[in-house]
Amino acid sequence: MGEHLMSPSASPRDMKPPLAQIPPEVAAVSDYEPLARERMTPAAWAWLQGGAADEITLRENQAAFQRLRLAPRALAELAGAHTRLTLLGQAFEHPIFVAPVAYQQLAHPDGERATVLAAGALGAGMVVSTQAGLPLDALARQATAPLWFQLYVQHDRGFTRELVHRVQAAGYRALVVTVDAPVSGPRNRERRAGFALPPGLSAVNLQGVRNPPPHTAPLGRPPLFGSPLVDTALTWRDIAWLREQTTLPVLLKGVLSPADAVRAADEGLDGVIVSNHGGRVLDTVPATIEALPAIARAVNGRLPLLLDGGVRRGTDVFKALALGASAVLVGRPVLHGLAAAGAPGAAHVLHLLRAELEMAMALTGCRTLADIDESRIWRGG
Ligand code: FNR
Repeated sequence: MGEHLMSPSASPRDMKPPLAQIPPEVAAVSDYEPLARERMTPAAWAWLQGGAADEITLRENQAAFQRLRLAPRALAELAGAHTRLTLLGQAFEHPIFVAPVAYQQLAHPDGERATVLAAGALGAGMVVSTQAGLPLDALARQATAPLWFQLYVQHDRGFTRELVHRVQAAGYRALVVTVDAPVSGPRNRERRAGFALPPGLSAVNLQGVRNPPPHTAPLGRPPLFGSPLVDTALTWRDIAWLREQTTLPVLLKGVLSPADAVRAADEGLDGVIVSNHGGRVLDTVPATIEALPAIARAVNGRLPLLLDGGVRRGTDVFKALALGASAVLVGRPVLHGLAAAGAPGAAHVLHLLRAELEMAMALTGCRTLADIDESRIWRGG
């Protein structure tokens, strides 16, 4: 389950090496995008940047943030201002997390190892993907900020249980169960670019998983509904089962519907990540920032909400918090920093976001994250 990447191999081209230093003219997160592109193969770039189908949701994730306006406030008392928060009983310096992104060696040879270092240096929580290219225990040993583990529940439930035990033993502090990608295939952009995982890169933490079901049905049968994949797709029953396998807090990632978020609260889950998988799974679902307010109203504080998708600047972080999120996760931009300049690049992306968040807080009169509320979003008039 999860993101299955199968297509003919890409033709590598001459690429620039990662930068040894951050160029002084890098002023914003978006400046890393061209620097990253020059340092990845066209196929890997298509994998990183791509969204589902026509990429309408992919574009909308950013566009919806850009449509929102902030309401500044003057002369507020800012002495003692900070961005600290406590989430699931864990202390964080700021509300900017690294989203789970698979196979990070496609961006930089150091892969997830560099991202873990970057997150630690910036005090950022990080969610390690089930499809990381490096062993989950080795990554945990390098961590200096809390690590959470993103789980794709495997068809082989016995393997899943063992994986969860390994994750817990390695010191991860929460399980993030991705629920929006029970079925998936290569995205159009990847297919057109001929993306394939290069030799030597694999989901090492899934080694030993038994009997993955075929992903396609025989010709002439319903292409998806005729395949065994749908029979083993994740359900609420599996989530209840999973909670019994671990004492870690369990969050659901990939919720866009208020009803699902309320059900998560009813089932006793510890948090929900409002996400559309960075526009990579079902095209034309809404931008996450547009889905958030109704979810926040429905959940009414019964569990913490996080959000990802399209966060590219500190004002986006601010807007997500204003509309009901406790924290945000950032996917592609961290990989842009990683591809451009390794751990320092990824760290710089997180630093830029945090600096811009602090600036937005100061200029809207918010001393703490708790002050960031809906009144800071301009409603006209
Ligand atoms: C992802 N995402 C993802 N999510 C997940 O739960 N497990 C995974 O292995 C991956 N892998 C992955 C690879 C790539 C290349 C991308 C771009 C994304 C989704 C990710 O966690 C997050 O939801 C989005 O990336 C957030 O959107 P932005 O910040 O990229 O706009």
